Amino acid sequence: MQPATERRSHGHRWMSGSEVRRAFIEFFEERGHKEIASSSLVPHNDPTVLLTTAGMQQMTPYFLGLETPPAVRMASVQKCFRTVDIDEVGDESHCTFFFMLGNFSVGDYFKSDSLRWSWEFLTEVLGLPAERLYPTVHPSDEDAYRIWKDEIGVPEERIGKLSDNWWGPVGPTGPNGPDSEIYFDLGPEAGEFGEGPGESTRFLEIWNNVFMEFFQAPDGSRTPLPKQNVDTGMGLERLTAMLQGVSSIYD
Ligand code: ALA
Repeated sequence: MQPATERRSHGHRWMSGSEVRRAFIEFFEERGHKEIASSSLVPHNDPTVLLTTAGMQQMTPYFLGLETPPAVRMASVQKCFRTVDIDEVGDESHCTFFFMLGNFSVGDYFKSDSLRWSWEFLTEVLGLPAERLYPTVHPSDEDAYRIWKDEIGVPEERIGKLSDNWWGPVGPTGPNGPDSEIYFDLGPEAGEFGEGPGESTRFLEIWNNVFMEFFQAPDGSRTPLPKQNVDTGMGLERLTAMLQGVSSIYD
C-alpha cells in the first residue's frame, strides 16, 4: 500500500480528517488568525437558537458590537448540529452533526482577502484543480463578482449568480449578509451539468464566505452592522470525503 501522503484522489493529495483540520488552522494562523476553541453545542449566549448550527454563533456578540473579540481575526473547527436540511440527511453529503472549518474577521479584512485566501487554500494547500472550482455570488454583489473575475482570475463563465446566496440570521433575528459559495465539480458521473452549481448534483458546495454586514430585526427589516465582518464555513466531513476520493461522507 502507498503511504498516505503519496496517495492521490481527484488529482490532489489524499488527506486524513486531522490533516485537513491542521492545514486549515495553520493556514489562517499564518495569516494572523487566533485559533478559537469550538464552543459548546448548547449555545451559552444566544437565546435565538436551541443548538449551535454554525461557527459564527459564538461570534454573534462581536459582530453586533456588544463585546470585544479576543482577536479581530479568528479561526475555528466548530461542532455543529443542523436540522434545517433534515430531508437531505442520509444522502451522500448531509449529516445532522458535523464539524465546520471557519475563519472570521470582526471589522478587519473583508471580501477581497477572504475570497483570495479561500482560493489559495483550496488550490495551493489542498491542490484542488482550479478548473473544477465554481464560485457563486449573490446577484446584487458586484464586488464579490469583480474579485473572483479580476483579482482571482476565474473565467466569467464559471462564476454563478444565485439569489439564495444570502446567509443568516440563524434564528429570527441577528447578523446576516450576502455570501459567496464555492462548488466543486464532481464530474459527469455525479450528474448532468444542467443549470450548474447550486442546481445540479454534479456540483458539491464546499465553502461559504459570508459577508456579515446587516442586522435583521424581528420584523424582518435590515440595518447595517457597526462594522463589515467575514464569517466562513466549510464542512470538514464533506471536504475530507472529497479529498479521499470517496463519494459519501459516511465512507
Ligand atoms: N455561517 C455560514 C454557514 O454556516 C458560513 O454556512
